[in-house]
Amino acid sequence: MTSEKIQRVGVIGAGIMGAGIAEVCARAHVDVLVFEQTRELAAAGRSRILRSLDRGVSSGKITEREREQAAWRLRFTSDLGDFADRQLVVEAVVEDEKVKSEIFTELDSVVTDPNAVLASNTSSIPIMKLGIATKSPERVIGMHFFNPVPVLPLVELVTTLKTSSTVSQRAEAFASDVLGKQVVRSADRSGFVVNALLVPYLLSAIRMVESGFATKEDIDKATVLGLAHPMGPLALTDLVGLDTVKSIADSMYEEFKEPLYSAPPLLLRMVEAGLVGKKAGAGFYEYAENGRASKK
Ligand code: 3HC
Repeated sequence: MTSEKIQRVGVIGAGIMGAGIAEVCARAHVDVLVFEQTRELAAAGRSRILRSLDRGVSSGKITEREREQAAWRLRFTSDLGDFADRQLVVEAVVEDEKVKSEIFTELDSVVTDPNAVLASNTSSIPIMKLGIATKSPERVIGMHFFNPVPVLPLVELVTTLKTSSTVSQRAEAFASDVLGKQVVRSADRSGFVVNALLVPYLLSAIRMVESGFATKEDIDKATVLGLAHPMGPLALTDLVGLDTVKSIADSMYEEFKEPLYSAPPLLLRMVEAGLVGKKAGAGFYEYAENGRASKK
């Protein structure tokens, strides 16, 4: 079955990941409609994208004109009914299976293209669990981006036992040919490839802090200088968000029942205390308004 080239994209959620995905789509000359629940959240999402586009201009990656055109391609709505004509929708809301499932049920009833790609950017929830919330699981797929989305070139593509080959080819062509990302494929297992490797490492670093094995500064310094990682595991946990790391760990623990994936008490306490990382101004480190670590 043939399907049209994707030119109309929807993004659900304008948090860190949703905003990044919307930005890269708009920069790739695609019409982007972003869903947020309230005007305030939509305004915050738009400013997040505009700040990132400004950063692109100041680092010489895009011109002023490209920034303006990208901003012009972005529209916001708080009505999922407006997504009827979308050819690809990427859901990027909170890592909660119930919330995501409800969105997929509604999306499925709204989007008319029988070969539309209904994608989730979930970090860890098996995609089939979202597919069964719809009447057309053949349209449902995982498209997992990495933070910061404009910088990191990877998309993990996760097909389920029901995803159609048309939908999976369409999603892959969009990620690689339109967005210029590199695609890897993963089986539909919680965590997919990257988080199945990354999250046990982040949890181990948190356990090291918890047990007094080493300080957070020394753990981060050790991996940056000894392994040439761009940032240490505790700074990376702050970037991803401690609440998100906990949700991913919980999904992976539910799937595999491995102690390796269980969230350590220090992570639970920090999430309860609201110390969820860079987006909240504090996690393992504290952050100034500009997102730079201000106190170590
Ligand atoms: N938006 C746009 N551009 C950004 C950006 C953003 N949010 N953050 C950084 N950049 C660009 C900068 O403009 C700069 O570009 P330039 O080199 O052309 O000037 C470049 O990225 C480097 O940025 P900085 O100089 O400010 O800072 P660093 O060199 O310290 O890099 C970093 C920052 C890109 C965040 C780097 O430390 C990094 O790649 N860290 C690892 C991030 C990572 O592992 N992410 C994956 C997390 S896991 C995930 O997302 C999956 C989820 O499911 C949990």
